[in-house]
Amino acid sequence: MQVVSVMNYKGGVGKTTLTANLAAEIANVGHRVLMIDLDPQANLTFSFYTVDDWTSEVREARTIKRWYDGEIPGRDVPLDQLILTPERVNDRVKENAGQLDLVSSHLGLIDIDLQLASRLGGTTLAESKRKFLQVHGCLKVALQAPAFRDYDVILIDCAPNFGLVTKTAIVASDFVLVPAKPDYLSTLGIGYLKGSVKKLVEEYNAYVSHDPGGRDGARHISPEFAGIAFMMMQIHAGQPILLQRTQIEELREADIMPILETSVRNSPRYFAEAGPTGIPAVLHGSANDPVSAELRALTKEFVHAITGRR
Ligand SMILES: Nc1ncnc2c1ncn2[C@@H]1O[C@H](COP(=O)(O)OP(=O)(O)O)[C@@H](O)[C@H]1O
Ligand SMILES: [Mg+2]
Repeated sequence: MQVVSVMNYKGGVGKTTLTANLAAEIANVGHRVLMIDLDPQANLTFSFYTVDDWTSEVREARTIKRWYDGEIPGRDVPLDQLILTPERVNDRVKENAGQLDLVSSHLGLIDIDLQLASRLGGTTLAESKRKFLQVHGCLKVALQAPAFRDYDVILIDCAPNFGLVTKTAIVASDFVLVPAKPDYLSTLGIGYLKGSVKKLVEEYNAYVSHDPGGRDGARHISPEFAGIAFMMMQIHAGQPILLQRTQIEELREADIMPILETSVRNSPRYFAEAGPTGIPAVLHGSANDPVSAELRALTKEFVHAITGRR
């Protein structure tokens, strides 16, 4: 089982689209996939549920907000009780023995960062360190429960920030996948993102080292970058426009993290058509469409990156 955080500081770069389509395609070739929506905007959740169904069946008791709520995340409700199996997409993927589950987000998740922050600190250094590990490691610990062992991959759609909720996702992850648009502003933040992840990992590991065999049993973490996946490429005469190729080349030369070979072209129509169907575009669109082919190739490359390297 591999846990992957999908993240970028920028919104609108395709994080949610990539999460939903990777998850759907991996499930459609016969694997068990769990998506966790950690963005308060809940776009991933609403890619699989109508607002009406979510409001009547999920909102009250079955979202990730309920899990983070309370004195310690998960004390009121174990994470596995929040797992949903969206019907329409599963009708599709079960033909190939796959399964696609979801832990839903909630708009109220936006308040959880502050709530978690209030649980940090302490009267002694030892207490502060213990709380740091407890808060930052909460999702990692939860995902070690038996219910999660049967998933082949867990994809976490992160909010475009580096707040505490996002940090719990990074600590829980084996890999970080970074969707980006091939433009200057979008790529600018990637070096910074790498620095933030590195700093978090160092801080967490330093606290673990100070507390060997501590009662929370925290271990060192070492999430790796699966790579940058370029979304919304501008294709002209069969290849990306010069400006974007230059942008990608510069990023490659900066050598910040791997860049996935496969990119996805800009195709608003392709993604808009899948919109309200509850089935991600890759399973919905025509199999001959170039975007379908790119999404399938990107999925293969991604799976190779997260299984081949460890
Ligand atoms: N390759 C693409 N071509 C055209 N539109 C896209 C593509 N990928 C994503 N989109 C659209 O761009 C918008 C933002 O994507 P989204 O995945 O929600 O970004 P994020 O989660 O990073 O905020 C959505 O409306 C989505 O349908
Ligand atoms: Mg999103």
